[in-house]
Amino acid sequence: MYTKLGHSMPKGLLMHGPSGTGKTLLAKAVATESEANFISVRGPELLSKWVGESERGIREIFRRARQAAPCVVFFDEIDSIAPTRGMGGDSMVTERVVSQLLTELDGIQALSGVVVLAATNRADMIDPALLRPGRFDKIVFVPMPDKPARQRILEIHSKDKPIGPDVDVSRVAELTEGFSGADTSSVANTAVSLVLHEYLAKYPTPEEAAKHASEAHVMMRHFEEGVKKIKTQREGKPGEKVTVPYYR
Ligand SMILES: Nc1ncnc2c1ncn2[C@@H]1O[C@H](COP(=O)(O)OP(=O)(O)OP(=O)(O)O)[C@@H](O)[C@H]1O
Ligand SMILES: [Mg+2]
Repeated sequence: MYTKLGHSMPKGLLMHGPSGTGKTLLAKAVATESEANFISVRGPELLSKWVGESERGIREIFRRARQAAPCVVFFDEIDSIAPTRGMGGDSMVTERVVSQLLTELDGIQALSGVVVLAATNRADMIDPALLRPGRFDKIVFVPMPDKPARQRILEIHSKDKPIGPDVDVSRVAELTEGFSGADTSSVANTAVSLVLHEYLAKYPTPEEAAKHASEAHVMMRHFEEGVKKIKTQREGKPGEKVTVPYYR
């Protein structure tokens, strides 16, 4: 279809949006669901203090990608390697990395069968030259989840947990207003950890508690407590006071 209609495949796709909205998760889904090869590059790993090493790293990645075509190259946290040039910073490394990336994307050697995927939560930090059509020409905003999305996230993350009969997931989704996907998913896990603590407190030994594990259920009150806990964490308020043992 693409060749018939004379449409050139997008070379690059940038996902941006607040932290914890599932950008890295989406890339993982691309890796497993698409039948293409997948090369994942984490920004900070690429930077090297040795002159020329970082650019060489980029060249090497694209060389491997061309060989492995069809291939998806994923740059996570791309703001760390491709910040706006001329913004100062401690070295020229990132400037040269951006230039190398531009060279690869513009490609004297055509990037056929290679798609570049990138993610960031700081789209404002990225060199505008990279966002020009022909480079990262598809820009996808990954928003904070709305209520139905949070409900789905809760359902997914409580799938293999013993959920009690009184749990109203739709109500929990309402309570998690303003939560990111990461916050929402950790509500389910926090609820389970509350049940765990209750059981450990109820029985004299952990072995005894383990015997009764099949009776344990995550109830609505655990979810409510979990939401509260995540809320206090998000607001950066210290939770209840914990006394830390004093060591000499
Ligand atoms: N839409 C979603 N569906 C299911 N789980 C989600 C979703 N969004 C986030 N999560 C949960 O939150 C975790 C963190 O998400 P992820 O690491 O993809 O966020 P991110 O957008 O890459 O954040 P950052 O910008 O901070 O890197 C995921 O591993 C997953 O457990
Ligand atoms: Mg991420």
